[in-house]
Amino acid sequence: MSPSGPARTLVVLPGDGIGPEVTAEAVACLELAASEFFHPLRVETRAIGGAALDACGEPLPAATLEACRRADAVLLGAVGAPAHDRQPRELRPETGLLRLRAGLGLYANLRPVAVPEALVPASPLKAEVVRGADLLIVRELAGGLYYGEPRKLTPERGLNTMAYARPEVERIARVAFEAARGRRRKVTSVDKANVLESSQLWRAVVTEVARDYPDVALEHQYVDSMAMALVTRPTAFDVVLTENLFGDILSDEAAVLTGSLGLLPSASLGAGPGLFEPVHGSAPDLAGKGAANPGGAIASAALLLRHGLGLGTEARLLEEALASVLAEGVGTPDLALPRAVGTAEFGALVRRRFSELAWSGAGRGLAADLA
Ligand code: NAD
Ligand code: IPM
Ligand code: MN
Repeated sequence: MSPSGPARTLVVLPGDGIGPEVTAEAVACLELAASEFFHPLRVETRAIGGAALDACGEPLPAATLEACRRADAVLLGAVGAPAHDRQPRELRPETGLLRLRAGLGLYANLRPVAVPEALVPASPLKAEVVRGADLLIVRELAGGLYYGEPRKLTPERGLNTMAYARPEVERIARVAFEAARGRRRKVTSVDKANVLESSQLWRAVVTEVARDYPDVALEHQYVDSMAMALVTRPTAFDVVLTENLFGDILSDEAAVLTGSLGLLPSASLGAGPGLFEPVHGSAPDLAGKGAANPGGAIASAALLLRHGLGLGTEARLLEEALASVLAEGVGTPDLALPRAVGTAEFGALVRRRFSELAWSGAGRGLAADLA
């Protein structure tokens, strides 16, 4: 996109709990990036999750899905509210998010996890274990137990189905191998092929796809031993490719490397607009305290700039701004860093640093490249 091109539309779905708090900081970063680099941006806010259930009785109102389909990119906070926890599935906040992912045809969920030197002391793991860890979890997002049929709940029986079809595995495997080509050229495919037929198909198809990528090393790992390896030898991994539920679980575990779940971002991609959201949930225990870490939401905004709006330079500056605030030992209270500040103050520090970088020699050079 060239500066001062047509306005891009960003749909923001703050959601529940800490969702609105972290999203506000991320949107302010996007608005700043847009104004510093002269990109017209239109921001539309819509309801999802518990907030939408409270407002109109549905976790994903039709107007929200329509707005997202028309958008250039979608930024989401989090869904999930204790008040709705005992509801049947159609009336749960989480169902709004699952319908949105399906409604936008999102199948590739990218969850980068990197441990910069400044975060090494913030990790509960030993420095020598986490130092240098830098991996990308590629989580299949459209299939598996989350969407498999049949599914049913009676007072006596709960049923879910884990099923994968060859094309579903093939397309996500290609995403992983392509991503590996831009990184350290290694894919670890995680499955449970010693027990599950769906994993046996997964392993066979991933192995076939690998033949098209002779420059990328492929290894297979069972999910149980992967759960251990992620926290004992995380630097052994580059791209981690896995199915929907395994990817959900392993990504929260991988957050331990960085010291807080609050820092992890994600990008969900398909044929249409992408959805960008932090990996964490609505954290009801923290909601309203002004203490949530907006880092994951801000890093998701950077992914939105890169993958959603094609603004790679602005994305890199925002990531650098976030990293440099953390590198000075400043974080939110969830991070074991020397200085803890609140959600809004942390966001403001990142934005101040973004502007400094944008107006520094490097930033002006980058802006000139864009012109
Ligand atoms: P959670 O991710 O909300 O919280 C887990 C722990 O991490 C809590 O101790 C929380 O305080 C902490 N935490 C999370 N985000 C943080 C942040 N930004 N800053 C500081 N600390 C943070 O997971 P949960 O407690 O299992 O789930 C709460 C609700 O969120 C549930 O309703 C669940 O379904 C929902 N959920 C939603 C999403 C999503 O919207 N993508 C993801 C996960 C969970
Ligand atoms: C996530 C969340 C969601 C998931 C829930 C809220 C539906 O845990 O994005 O990681 O399981 O995908
Ligand atoms: Mn999750």
